Amino acid sequence: MVTNFIKQKAEELKPVLVELRRKIHAHPELGFEEEKTAALIAETLQKLEFEVQTGIAKTGVVGLLRGEKAGKTIAFRADMDALALQEENDKPYASLHPGKMHACGHDAHTTSLLGAAMILKELQNNLPGNIKFIFQPAEESTGGAKPMIEEGVLANPQVDAIFAPHVWPDYPAGKITVQYGPTMAAPDYFEIEITGKSGHGALPHKSIDAIIVACQVVNSLQTIVSRKRDPLDPLVLSIGTIQGGSAFNVIADRVKMTGTVRTFNLETREKMPLLMEEIISGICKAFGADYKFKYEKYFPPTINDEKMTAIAEKSAAKIVGKENVIVETKPSMGGEDFSFFLQEVPGSYIKIGINNPAKGIIYPLHHPKFDLDEDVLPITAALMAQIAWDFLQE
Ligand code: NI
Repeated sequence: MVTNFIKQKAEELKPVLVELRRKIHAHPELGFEEEKTAALIAETLQKLEFEVQTGIAKTGVVGLLRGEKAGKTIAFRADMDALALQEENDKPYASLHPGKMHACGHDAHTTSLLGAAMILKELQNNLPGNIKFIFQPAEESTGGAKPMIEEGVLANPQVDAIFAPHVWPDYPAGKITVQYGPTMAAPDYFEIEITGKSGHGALPHKSIDAIIVACQVVNSLQTIVSRKRDPLDPLVLSIGTIQGGSAFNVIADRVKMTGTVRTFNLETREKMPLLMEEIISGICKAFGADYKFKYEKYFPPTINDEKMTAIAEKSAAKIVGKENVIVETKPSMGGEDFSFFLQEVPGSYIKIGINNPAKGIIYPLHHPKFDLDEDVLPITAALMAQIAWDFLQE
């Protein structure tokens, strides 16, 4: 049976995958700078005799495995980039690059996908269709998915379905989580700059205090969430940075803030810039201050396709057993640029449990002590291989 073969092969590959993951983990590279990671991926795929394309969206790599029989084309996406974060683990494979760390598990996604490639290569003779392995840059920053799509990764051959795994510390290692419909929010970015009039700290009446204005703006923006929108429609507005002032006894003439808005509902997303600007401009007017406001849409919400998620759920049950498949119903307000792929092609974003307190693996994503249970590497590789097999048989 194919599942037994896939599982056995994945287990055999475990030492290879652990070594690969540790190598990538020790050498993290930031978005659009994943040169060495991309070279390692390309070399691995070339050894498997895949058709390999490099330099897509700067550092992206695509490997194509053509089955012996004609059929549909399924794609998998792994992100390759690390975070600008100093690792605080003292493991032998900890980051060798100061200020850079694989704290979101993209090292594991890349490794697992290479593992799936190794397994599926062995099934090539019986494969009715093609498999594309997409290794994407810069998921953490401005996003590599969109430029990769623009450079044609979903064409030649045309991709019919796409899947992506992401390690998830909220779930125990050994569990696989699928979700029907919305799973991740649309993450947007904004900047607000308030300009008042500087003056002596003792003479407030002769100045326009940009800090007082900014405080009103910060508090009032939250009333969009609490008073302007339906409480059952998920919405988050967070100010992440605020800078202003130069001395304790000088009234600040300028405050700059940046933040993020998270939504699922497209109508809410469309309205946010206007709702925010009404508050900013009204408050500034009341105090005689000026403002600049910039709102940038980053990624769309990540919406899983029902049919593709059903395939993922069934394939996952074959790999880890039905009792270890979680069907999540609560979406996350995090963002993910895999959403751009899902706008083009039906697919599903799958969360892989990695939490294991017995091994001290308890930290959240983006934490300086983040790590993952490496037992999930063969599980994830097997899952992708099983999904490919099941989808192409359909
Ligand atoms: Ni991530």
